[in-house]
Amino acid sequence: PMEFSLRPRFLDDYIGQSRVKENLKIYIEAAKMRRESLDHVLLYGPPGLGKTTLSYIIANELGVNLRTTSGPAIERPGDLAAILTNLQQGDLLFIDEIHRLNRSVEEVLYPAMEDFALDIVIGKGPSARSVRLDLPPFTLVGATTRAGSLSSPLRDRFGVMSRLEYYTEEELTWIVTRAADLLQVTVRAEGAQEIACRARGTPRVANRLLKRVRDFVQVKGDGVITRETAQDALDRIQVDKLGLDQVDHKLLRSIMDHFRGGPVGLETLAATIGEEAHTVEDVYEPYLLQIGFLQRTPRGRMVTPRCYQHFGVEMPG
Ligand code: ADE
Repeated sequence: PMEFSLRPRFLDDYIGQSRVKENLKIYIEAAKMRRESLDHVLLYGPPGLGKTTLSYIIANELGVNLRTTSGPAIERPGDLAAILTNLQQGDLLFIDEIHRLNRSVEEVLYPAMEDFALDIVIGKGPSARSVRLDLPPFTLVGATTRAGSLSSPLRDRFGVMSRLEYYTEEELTWIVTRAADLLQVTVRAEGAQEIACRARGTPRVANRLLKRVRDFVQVKGDGVITRETAQDALDRIQVDKLGLDQVDHKLLRSIMDHFRGGPVGLETLAATIGEEAHTVEDVYEPYLLQIGFLQRTPRGRMVTPRCYQHFGVEMPG
């Protein structure tokens, strides 16, 4: 699919996250020099910043197979055992949303990560016994939006922990320019910049906006993305100057209009706008906190004067 072809395949094509990238480059080279598997890596940070992309790149740079799964997809210990016993030496196992693994599955992971071993219980009751199977050395790459929700025994078993940050407008402009090239659409520098500055610091959003803008310029225009054609398309899809979309607006307006600016509890807020609390917390809030529109207080969420200003709404006295 198209989405896949937009992903960079090597570290040198990966834009941004320069510290994470430079460090990973060293660890990968060292592991290859020693002919060992790379230590387990935890990638954490807001959604859409490239955790999955990086895991593809790491596997590619190591020259090993990549097996991908996610915390919620591994329901029982046996599911994980099946995956682990099918790995080959040095393979990379990517577990997305690793904070959502259940406890019994997590316990299979500890000896697998630490000793490359799988403990299997055979039989039931008094005759039950445990056998230890050797696994090939492998690398676990875990991804999570919240490192704080990992249990500490799991967190402690990662040799590398890398936090991904929001991208700068300049980095996103490069990413849009690169993607436009791959999608074979002409984009002017100011057009790329216009998309970048509404992409909420997030490459996944930037690439999605680019594809929608491309639709508009190809159908209604001459196929060239300029500042004006980008602005026009982005206004039509209701992504504002700061990249806030309909859900962001609904969330912020709800706090201003129904809760006098807050504080309002997360569950109440989520119910009011018809979203899941964890979606609000993991997907919508991080960027609103980052741009200083929202605050988390012990009594709940509050909007800031800056938010009132953006909406042109008078603050309650
Ligand atoms: N596409 C999505 N994320 C990217 C990144 N960090 N660098 C280059 N292209 C990308």
